[in-house]
Amino acid sequence: MEFFIDTADIEEIRQAKELGILDGVTTNPSLMAKTGKNTRKVLEEICALVQGPVSAEVLATDKEGILKEAHELVKIADNIVIKVPLISDGLKAVRVLASEGIQTNVTLCFSATQALMAAKAGATYISPFIGRLDDLSQTGMELIEDIVAIYQNYQFETKILVASIRHPVHVKEAAILGADVATIPFSVFDKLIQHPLTDSGLAKFLSDAKKIPLS
Ligand code: E4P
Repeated sequence: MEFFIDTADIEEIRQAKELGILDGVTTNPSLMAKTGKNTRKVLEEICALVQGPVSAEVLATDKEGILKEAHELVKIADNIVIKVPLISDGLKAVRVLASEGIQTNVTLCFSATQALMAAKAGATYISPFIGRLDDLSQTGMELIEDIVAIYQNYQFETKILVASIRHPVHVKEAAILGADVATIPFSVFDKLIQHPLTDSGLAKFLSDAKKIPLS
């Protein structure tokens, strides 16, 4: 399973990279807005730091506008992946981008049929937003289960990128289901590592070790 970080904050990306387990980055317009910086500059900084896929979202909602933005964004770096909303014009643009060899991440997916359509359009990644479904008292993880089954039935190559992750259980369940990628907020990365029994166990080992000579 690949781990992407879901942020546009360069310091968070740097820290996640230091962990040695970072495979890529996803951004979106809301995350970009939080930086208060110019989007292009932020993307340049991220791509200079991370070799893996970096998703950059288009703002246009018509096919031609999406393609124009995509063609500008891919000039930033070779690892830019074009993030396109799951709307009709978005899928039309994905089909063209796929034929041009440009990688895409179809975002704002909330149903299995949407994921099926994105795969048929030739998306590189599909991003189902599980946390936002949970927020509406639906079970986001059931959507992942459905997409995994559908993509396996037809051997679609589109990778399932689990998005809108809120806590470690989301990551665990996505991994059990065999999702290809989890895009994880910085705050959750640390929680994946921590366990109070690890901390208390280590403290005890270290204090016991002081009771005898080392050699
Ligand atoms: C995915 O690519 C999105 O950037 C993100 O996961 C959305 O998460 P949110 O629902 O926490 O905003």
